[in-house]
Amino acid sequence: MAELSLPFESRYFPLKKFFDIYNRSIQEPEAFWAEQARQLDWFKTWDKVLEWEPPFARWFTGAQLNASYNCVDRHVKTWRRSKVAMYWEGEPGDTRVLSYSTLYGAVNRFASVLKNCGVGKGDRVALYLPMIPELPIFMLACGRIGAVHTVVFSGFSAQALADRINDAQVKLLVTADGGFRRGKVVPLKSIADEALTMSPSVERTIVVKRADVPISMKPSRDLWLHDLLDKAAPFVQPEPMASNDPLYILYTSGTTGKPKGVVHGTGGYLVHNYCAYKWAFDLKEESVYWCSADVGWVTGHSSIVYAPLSHGAAIVLYEGAPDYPTIDRWWDIIEKYGVTIFYTSPTAIRMFMGYGEEWVHRHDLSSLELLGSVGEPINTQAWLWFYRHIGGERCPIVDTWWQTETGGIMISPTPGIERLPLKPGSATLPLPGVDADVVDETGKSAPPEERGWLVIKKPWPGMLLSIHGDPERYRQYWSRFPGVYYTGDYAVKDRDGYFWILGRADEVLKIAGHRIGTAELEDAATSHPQVAEAAVASKGDPVKGESIVLFVRLKEGSTPSPGLKNELSEHMRGKIGPIATPDEVYFTTKLPKTRSGKIMRRVLKAVANNTSIGDVTTLEDEASVEEVVKAYQELKKA
Ligand code: WTA
Repeated sequence: MAELSLPFESRYFPLKKFFDIYNRSIQEPEAFWAEQARQLDWFKTWDKVLEWEPPFARWFTGAQLNASYNCVDRHVKTWRRSKVAMYWEGEPGDTRVLSYSTLYGAVNRFASVLKNCGVGKGDRVALYLPMIPELPIFMLACGRIGAVHTVVFSGFSAQALADRINDAQVKLLVTADGGFRRGKVVPLKSIADEALTMSPSVERTIVVKRADVPISMKPSRDLWLHDLLDKAAPFVQPEPMASNDPLYILYTSGTTGKPKGVVHGTGGYLVHNYCAYKWAFDLKEESVYWCSADVGWVTGHSSIVYAPLSHGAAIVLYEGAPDYPTIDRWWDIIEKYGVTIFYTSPTAIRMFMGYGEEWVHRHDLSSLELLGSVGEPINTQAWLWFYRHIGGERCPIVDTWWQTETGGIMISPTPGIERLPLKPGSATLPLPGVDADVVDETGKSAPPEERGWLVIKKPWPGMLLSIHGDPERYRQYWSRFPGVYYTGDYAVKDRDGYFWILGRADEVLKIAGHRIGTAELEDAATSHPQVAEAAVASKGDPVKGESIVLFVRLKEGSTPSPGLKNELSEHMRGKIGPIATPDEVYFTTKLPKTRSGKIMRRVLKAVANNTSIGDVTTLEDEASVEEVVKAYQELKKA
């Protein structure tokens, strides 16, 4: 990095303020988190800050609070009632601006709608919506009455929606007639209708009119939101929730075919996020904060809804495709709303890099103060482009590492505490209260510069409560290295103690930052009638980071053909959604397996990437070298 002359690209120096706070947080975690928690509004304070019965942690036990109260009610009691809470922009160019008092009104009326539909505390509500204001409003309305929301990304298929609804035993589904994407209408209601033929638990569907396209409404089940709002009450008492009552369930991919329902609580989750966004983003009530993620992922939950709104900041919500109708749509939005903090993914940055900076320079982006990156490792070139062309060599970039399970940011620079030297590609240091390490296969700290597994050694407030309906699966996070939380990521710590995240060490892929397990993809492929066996590997992709390569063995009597390749791709889209589309499909007569029947992923990866096996190292390989080489040669020939 010596050739770069960034203002804060200097050698490591002692960060007095940061380390004073960090060290105290690790030495006296309970006193530390109690102090932080007092920044939120509680109906009743805690008896104990932490009850730790490994591997289950319960934060702020005995305490009561309400998430929607902390995101809206507490602001309408102050001058913030008249300040902007949300700037929304639809893809066709329509806009809506909500102040905290109009947001408060909407959350109350939506909560009343839910109650009038028979939803109560503990009931599960699925939200299958485009990126419109009604999505965060419904999330907050659920929180207000103690219902548990499960947001399903609107790019998921009917089958994926049904699987999530069934696992969570959802009582009510909220959807829209459609949403806009690249000038077309995504027919959400008809996808939902198909899902509901497989999901008997759903009693009612609320439909938001967004795209104004014809849809079918099933009498006695489907109701228009606007009709229900006519009869809604203007105020609903926020339910006093126990700190460890669930706030939401969010499904994510793991190493089996079945997505796991990550359950987040209320108190710990909110405290963690309130603090993390103050530390990492220097978030304040006057910030105009734009996180470009979809609300359907954890990034959207924490970074669009709960963290910025609990701070009383203004959020930007944009419905559509990033480069539609013109390539500078995003830069136009930043200029138009005076965005001060912009948080996005390396994939998006690489895509815009490809379009060229002339699109950026048409806009005045001088309102920006800070940039963030999340979801996948950011390469130096993308980091530098982001820094120079979007941040005008003025804005620090916070590369934030976290997961659906962690609930909030765990490793990131903390300009909200003290500016530390940045190194392009490193997420730098753990946040206060986060005891992270890189360990070798025995669980001991790995020496500097050596690759190992990223673990978290102590509980943290935002951590998941459990996996819905499957506590055993939750325990697995804590069993690979006994007593510590295993993240599933490879990482390296450098000599300055900075963390460099290298990507997943398990069978989970990150396609354009979207998390998807190979097992889930393989299940989708094998559900095709002509497929006997399938295996997935990822291939490096210059924009998306990784792309999907599918290897299939067909059933007797089926013949490989280009038509069948397309059919398989379509089939996977239908089972999961567009994110599951393979970039390449290979037919083979034999999949590479060890004697014990385990697929040799290293072989698949080497073939997919057209590299030698020596270039593809996984620490988990159990096959002998000869076995691997033989299988590799066989597969290359096929
Ligand atoms: C990856 C997204 C490198 C990592 C918030 C992790 C990252 C997975 C970063 C979780 C980062 C997330 N640098 N890799 N800054 N942030 N990841 O659950 O592999 O969708 O385990 O949560 O994304 O993905 P998830």
